[in-house]
Amino acid sequence: MSIRKGGFPPGPPEKGFCPSKPLLITIDGPAGAGKTTIGKRLAACLKYRYVDTGALYRAVAHEALRAGIAPDDDPKLRELCDGLNLKFEEDPMGIRLLANGRDITDAIRTPEIAMAASKASAQPSVREHLLNVQRKLGKDRCVVFEGRDMGTVVFPDADVKFFLDAELRVRAQRRFHEMKHPPQMTLDEMEKEIVCRDQADSTRMLAPLKAAPDAVRIDSSRLSEDEVIRRMLDYIHRNART
Ligand code: DC
Repeated sequence: MSIRKGGFPPGPPEKGFCPSKPLLITIDGPAGAGKTTIGKRLAACLKYRYVDTGALYRAVAHEALRAGIAPDDDPKLRELCDGLNLKFEEDPMGIRLLANGRDITDAIRTPEIAMAASKASAQPSVREHLLNVQRKLGKDRCVVFEGRDMGTVVFPDADVKFFLDAELRVRAQRRFHEMKHPPQMTLDEMEKEIVCRDQADSTRMLAPLKAAPDAVRIDSSRLSEDEVIRRMLDYIHRNART
């Protein structure tokens, strides 16, 4: 599926429109493709909720490491998940993620947790547990979900599916610039980490990273955030109004 050019009124994309029916929108794609920035803005444009599902996998990995559990120990991860209550909460600082009441929003944003999350996300018990969590979060629609398998496995009946991608170097640069100072790794190391994670995420047996056949593909390598948002709104405007 492709995006038709033009059509959406000029001006800031935030002056969007209100879809007449409640939509469930998915954005899948590899690390650093811009899913978080774009997902949050798209949700704000539509006055929808935004759910970062990568944060849920990171949360499981964080809690596993905290409990001394290896991120690929499936039986132990099952026990951990059984006692784990994950909750998104909105506050003036943005969206916070709580694990059993503890705020872990910032603690999950490290390269170590990213790699552990990639390992944990290949485990059946973790995918099963988070599948239910995610479907509950989507039951009222009016939400933008971002992840790896949103349009393929979690919400195959989503109203609108996007697959957001970008060239490797561009993705590494974005993630590098997002890192807190002083940076924990060089740009080349970041690129290697992304290659390694992409490889693991797209070749695993369960719910691998891939575009749904009915997803709209957008390559954001040479597009500004505004342009990506405009294309998405244009597509939604033309295809999902009724
Ligand atoms: O988007 P992120 O970098 O925060 O995701 C961290 C890891 O979680 C990623 O390497 C793969 C996994 N993940 C997944 O398997 N399925 C999702 N829907 C979201 C993330």
